[in-house]
Amino acid sequence: MDANLIINVVYIVAAFLFIYGLKRMSSPVTARSGIVVAGVGMLFAVLVSFLYAVTASEAAKAHMSVNLSLAAVALILGVVVAYWTGKKVAMTAMPQMIAIYNGLGGGAAALIAASELFAPAVSGESEDVVRLVVTVIGAIIGAVSFSGSVIAWAKLDGRIKKTWRVSGQQFLNGAVMLVALGIGAYLVFGAHGHGAVGLTVAFFIITLVFGVLMTMPIGGADMPVVISLYNAFTGLAVGAEGFVLQNPALMIAGMVVGAAGTLLTLLMAKAMNRSVKNVIFSNFAVESSAAQGEIEGSLKPTDASDAAVQMRYAQKVIIAPGYGLAVAQAQHKLYEFVKLLQAHDVDVKFAIHPVAGRMPGHMNVLLAEAGVPYDIIHDMDDINEEFKEADVALVIGANDTVNPAARTQKSSPIYGMPVLKVDDAKQVYVIKRGEGKGYSGVVNELFYRDNTNMVYGDAQKVMVKMIQAIKDLGEG
Ligand code: TAP
Repeated sequence: MDANLIINVVYIVAAFLFIYGLKRMSSPVTARSGIVVAGVGMLFAVLVSFLYAVTASEAAKAHMSVNLSLAAVALILGVVVAYWTGKKVAMTAMPQMIAIYNGLGGGAAALIAASELFAPAVSGESEDVVRLVVTVIGAIIGAVSFSGSVIAWAKLDGRIKKTWRVSGQQFLNGAVMLVALGIGAYLVFGAHGHGAVGLTVAFFIITLVFGVLMTMPIGGADMPVVISLYNAFTGLAVGAEGFVLQNPALMIAGMVVGAAGTLLTLLMAKAMNRSVKNVIFSNFAVESSAAQGEIEGSLKPTDASDAAVQMRYAQKVIIAPGYGLAVAQAQHKLYEFVKLLQAHDVDVKFAIHPVAGRMPGHMNVLLAEAGVPYDIIHDMDDINEEFKEADVALVIGANDTVNPAARTQKSSPIYGMPVLKVDDAKQVYVIKRGEGKGYSGVVNELFYRDNTNMVYGDAQKVMVKMIQAIKDLGEG
């Protein structure tokens, strides 16, 4: 059979597997298999690409064997590094890993564009303008995604702690982008894609700098939205370079990632009640607590065992987990506690905020890992009105996502962000280690409310005490 036909058929099968895999990722029940399905699609696409060696002309075959050997070495290295880092990464460091791998995808797309732009002109052959324009667009998006993702990784990993801003930042960013676009236009229409080595180097440096300038001013709490945006950028860049290489698998995979990343970005921005423009051009992070106004009331610590006993005799308990649950790795103990409550006929539900934790779906992943059944896990919009019927709301390692100031206090920096209405419950218990703030740096007035008690301690240790307290009560 014709090698080209085999390649194209396998690419279509791979594209189907990408889309089917993505569809399966939409539910926690099927997500794991969705990842495997999409991974198999990628494996097919990668392996069948080696068949291009068969289709190459005699003249190209000499280069081809060198190129394919280099590709095989790169693949082996990539597989080893990805397998090793994927195995050892802590759940809490997952967003950083996503940021850096996503950035590498953008960088790879930019490198494909670079190899096109640095290639010497073939005499007598006229360059296709559309192809050149797409190459340059892919180069810009890919390079911005690469350098921006590296900054996002460094911020999430605590390597860059400051949000760097200068006056006239937007003007500066706009000017840098215009210069990059200007050189890009010259590379297409002036240099016809070839022979301008110095300008091509300058073009890439300026574009990379733009990615850094764009990301440095963005505050910590907005990083998830930014990573998702760069994820969409990477997809678009890969799609554009797929067009340049006339490779259908790259085009389809790029467009799927671009579309999924765009949707996720919009959904996350919506969950924070902000526009994407607002995320990129203004700062969510709190520089001072002055703007938050005075908080009335006091912090009222209580014992883990007292809180546990009250939950044991409650009819309905709603649990709001947050980032601290992941830090403490308390999900297994928490579920053990939940099962004890259920054994005493307490109706227990989980309320999941869309941006709880540090990555989309973070809490769902943790709870699934502990074996919590999906039917007691509810999204914020579905459960928020039920808090007023709850005897107890148990906040475990959550802070920003349960801050009532987001609903009530216009001066709060998180005003407008939808939050879990835990304060509607008759009694609120908050498990956290001390007076640490949440990701946005805002003081949480929930902790000072009359119906709130603080259970201080590492979430896992507190859960151990709570389990023991229920067991000590016996069957009665
Ligand atoms: P946060 O507001 O970040 O608060 C987490 C709380 O957990 C802290 O106040 C901390 O207080 C407590 N904590 C930390 N370690 C703990 C431990 N071992 N045991 C018990 N408590 C512990 O969490 P959240 O409510 O989940 O909100 C998420 C925030 O992160 C939002 O602002 C969101 O925008 C942002 N964000 C989200 C994502 C995604 S996509 N989910 C990604 C990046 C950022 P103590 O120090 O006093 O213990």
